[in-house]
Amino acid sequence: MKRILVTGSLGQIGTELVTALRRHPGVELVVASDIKMMPKRDGGDDGPFEYLDCTNQRQVEQVVRKYEVDTIYHLAALLSAVAEERPQVAWDVNLGGLYRVLEVARQNQCAIFFPSSIGAFGPGTPRDRTPQDTIQRPTTIYGVTKVAGELVCDYYHHRFGVDARGVRFPGLISHVAVPGGGTTDYAVEIFYEAIRNRRYTCFLEPNTRLDMMYMPDSIKAAIAVMEADPARLEHRNAFNIAAMNFTPEELTAEIRKHLPEFRMEYQVDPVRQAIADTWPRSLDDSAARREWGWQPDYDIATMTRDMLENLERKLRITEPGDQG
Ligand SMILES: NC(=O)c1ccc[n+]([C@@H]2O[C@H](COP(=O)([O-])OP(=O)(O)OC[C@H]3O[C@@H](n4cnc5c(N)ncnc54)[C@H](O)[C@@H]3O)[C@@H](O)[C@H]2O)c1
Repeated sequence: MKRILVTGSLGQIGTELVTALRRHPGVELVVASDIKMMPKRDGGDDGPFEYLDCTNQRQVEQVVRKYEVDTIYHLAALLSAVAEERPQVAWDVNLGGLYRVLEVARQNQCAIFFPSSIGAFGPGTPRDRTPQDTIQRPTTIYGVTKVAGELVCDYYHHRFGVDARGVRFPGLISHVAVPGGGTTDYAVEIFYEAIRNRRYTCFLEPNTRLDMMYMPDSIKAAIAVMEADPARLEHRNAFNIAAMNFTPEELTAEIRKHLPEFRMEYQVDPVRQAIADTWPRSLDDSAARREWGWQPDYDIATMTRDMLENLERKLRITEPGDQG
């Protein structure tokens, strides 16, 4: 029975990962943690929450010992667009935080999950069916910390035997928590605005193709890679995983099948466009499929239908009478 700590648990991924892990067979306890405080919820919480700054090794250590944690999902990070605004903080949190969590994992025999990203690739990387092992020379501070993170996780495994595993997430689409300042946030915002106002102003160009995934698939991947038979793992870390790829124009067309009056406008943000232009358009995920049976459940059509259904329900409750 696993005892799990999730750092950065109030973010887009953590919000849903904690819920999924708490229901997952073989999991005894899930400690949620963040530098933001947990909002008070009616009906009580379904598990412990700790204030935890991942750059503070003592704090990480105290929480790991207090709950006898054996597995850490280390999600705390600054996302690509935010990191570009505050590169020094991004270095401290994304790499300094990971290093400290790895040290605690080493000293307390914990397994660790580290989420890398399509941002770990750069302009020199083949952009279509990007191979598992290829050129990684990212030009963003986010990408630099992700490549270094992949390498230091591998190092801790080879050098110290720490069971560090992870995947490279594409842009993630979800309806529970809002995204935290990434380059693919448009693919979430578009659904909120389609329902609220029937129009959206996109910050990427209409033909910007990027690799994307629906949150249920990313949660499935994060859990599955940690449960994979280690004997079958050749890579262990930084697995490419893929589900769908599309442009803002193609997503608009898909949404229009459900909301024909939806209109898209464009006001390109040069910073985020420049980041997107260096990222893969699609990933080759054959290593993940071969080594631990990765397979996504959602494509653009099933994701769009599910997003619209769930968000319409959510906004009807949280913003009654305010929908277009
Ligand atoms: N969302 C995506 O599209 C995506 C894609 C690829 C990779 N990832 C990676 O997955 C992980 C989680 O992403 P997310 O989308 O949930 O991010 P998010 O920005 O939504 O959440 C990150 C959380 O980390 C917390 N945090 C920031 N600094 C911290 C610190 N010093 N100590 C503890 N907590 C801190 C924040 O308060 C926030 O709640 C990140 O490593 C991110 O790089 C995300």
